[in-house]
Amino acid sequence: MTLKEKYGGKALVAGASEGIGAAFAEYLASEGMDLILIARREGPLNRSGDDLEKRYGVNVKCIPCDLAEEDTQQALEKELAGMEIGIMVYNAAVSYIGPFMQDTPDNQTRAVQVNIAAPLRLVRHFGEKMLERRRGAIILMTSMAGLQGSGFLSLYAAGKAFSRVLAESLWYEWKSQGVDVIGCCAGATSTPGYTNSRPAKKNLFAPAVLRPDQLAAECFKRLGKQPSFITGRANRIASCFMHRIIPLKTAVNIMGDNIRKMYGIDDRMSR
Ligand SMILES: NC(=O)c1ccc[n+]([C@@H]2O[C@H](COP(=O)([O-])OP(=O)(O)OC[C@H]3O[C@@H](n4cnc5c(N)ncnc54)[C@H](OP(=O)(O)O)[C@@H]3O)[C@@H](O)[C@H]2O)c1
Repeated sequence: MTLKEKYGGKALVAGASEGIGAAFAEYLASEGMDLILIARREGPLNRSGDDLEKRYGVNVKCIPCDLAEEDTQQALEKELAGMEIGIMVYNAAVSYIGPFMQDTPDNQTRAVQVNIAAPLRLVRHFGEKMLERRRGAIILMTSMAGLQGSGFLSLYAAGKAFSRVLAESLWYEWKSQGVDVIGCCAGATSTPGYTNSRPAKKNLFAPAVLRPDQLAAECFKRLGKQPSFITGRANRIASCFMHRIIPLKTAVNIMGDNIRKMYGIDDRMSR
């Protein structure tokens, strides 16, 4: 059965203009699904939408908006109220790399809005309609950073833990009601966002970097079969070591040390 047959003909990708979100959009278009694409920057979003329409002959509606704004979240729900969304992918994220106390309160509020409040709201909105129809799928993008405490990525990691646990919990609650939920737990993936963060140093525990299209294909292969998954074999092996073999304290130290080295963070900056 195709995705379209199983879940319906329309999908929404929140955070869709580039990187992993664009790869999800392309995968869904290649399956013949019409799309609603959301991101802040109108130019890249429209270009991506036009390109998918031309190449796959699907209908694409682009909605440029900032998911950090509560009014926007509300307006989106109204605008999309009558639409039957078969698959919802929540991919947008705010990530700050650095000492917790050096991030601004405003930026931290934005991170909570984009990484926690908006996915919660959209899951509730679309989940309710999917449950009524007894079909649908929700994919929440999360991260290996959220599998344990991750110093210098603290709020981002906490938000990603929220999304993963929410996905896993709803997978259980909704699996008998025709709605599939999955947490897609990514390791390093070659996106503009990842490259722009300029990870400097590699070491023994540095993750294997996947391509966004590999990640999207793996996610659709696992959708409906498990509550969450870690992308890529090398990442799964690293996670097995970090979460099953060594003590939590060691894992948290390794993660914090790696991030500090990768991004050249000075300990004195933490205070
Ligand atoms: N890349 C990695 O190595 C990696 C690793 C682990 C987890 N992840 C997760 O995978 C997801 C995608 O990562 P990525 O690297 O592809 O991210 P990205 O390059 O930063 O792209 C994120 C997408 O979301 C949109 N977006 C960001 N903030 C938004 C906002 N406030 N409102 C609406 N749209 C917004 C961006 O477009 P605009 O800028 O135009 O808004 C873009 O289309 C994220 O959830 C990230 O946490 C990525």
